[in-house]
Amino acid sequence: MQNLPQNNPKILIVDDSPDNIYTLEQILEDFNYEIHKALNGNEALQKISEIDPDLILLDVVMPGMNGFQVASIVKENESTRLIPIIMLTALEGKEDRLKGYQVGVDDFISKPFNIFELRARVRNLLKLRTYVNELEHAEQIIFSLARTVEAKDKYTEGHSERLSKMSSLLGSRLNFPKEDIVILRRGGILHDIGKIAIQDSILQKEGPLTDEEFDIIKTHPEIGERICAPLKSLKPILPTIMHHHEKFDGSGYPAGLKGEDIPIHARIMGIVDCFDALTTTRSYRPAMTLEKALSIMDSETSKGKWDPIIFDKFIELVHKKELALLD
Ligand SMILES: [Fe+2]
Repeated sequence: MQNLPQNNPKILIVDDSPDNIYTLEQILEDFNYEIHKALNGNEALQKISEIDPDLILLDVVMPGMNGFQVASIVKENESTRLIPIIMLTALEGKEDRLKGYQVGVDDFISKPFNIFELRARVRNLLKLRTYVNELEHAEQIIFSLARTVEAKDKYTEGHSERLSKMSSLLGSRLNFPKEDIVILRRGGILHDIGKIAIQDSILQKEGPLTDEEFDIIKTHPEIGERICAPLKSLKPILPTIMHHHEKFDGSGYPAGLKGEDIPIHARIMGIVDCFDALTTTRSYRPAMTLEKALSIMDSETSKGKWDPIIFDKFIELVHKKELALLD
């Protein structure tokens, strides 16, 4: 079957009525789908983690957890949120559809089922699932590339992961909406991906860099942006990659942006990047204590190097020992 997942697509039918499940199975037989069943919400969640279905057909009214609750758990979980859900409803009410869309349901089909409509929608959503899988795959390649960069240098091990955690914690402290937290989390992992193009001899040099070597290092934000730019899903992260070395007083690179002209996520990333660099051992110096690192950054903030509001929030975070780093 063209454009469908290579193995038989897995469809999970969730309905408390075995009769309804049987009807759906009949409608979908002859299509080489691998059908799985669950009779309630808990069983559905269990099956989803076991089989990683390509599509879920989900009843609304079930004893215990209802369809909306199941859908919202699936759509809030990073590893299952892209599985398409078709909600099966006897209710025509607009309110239920709205509620379904709000929790991330992809499509609705009313009972009694129109056989042709049901088959067509299942097929369309499975097609969409294939495209999403391909995109996810491309993204995974980029993310593992970013981890490869880190692996090139034993001194920076775990750096991206820590930046990802610290920046998203800082974003939460600044009351950022969920979308921004996602940008920070992913930006932390990807910010230095451009270093893939920088020679190891420069990245791992012990002792100070020459001006020429530093000019080469300074190209990594632009290279990183170029690597990630073709993927539409990474577009929101590009400004963080491009500008994480800008400084609030305009003394940073690559664009020499100043103050609030520096994208907010990049300002955050710059602060946590510097903090992490100071508090971990590098090829050219040992790790500093937390107090020493903060006092250096505090005096730099007074001189205008870091966004003072964000830095204040960062200090709060450190004092509350919320940083994963301090575990
Ligand atoms: Fe960097």
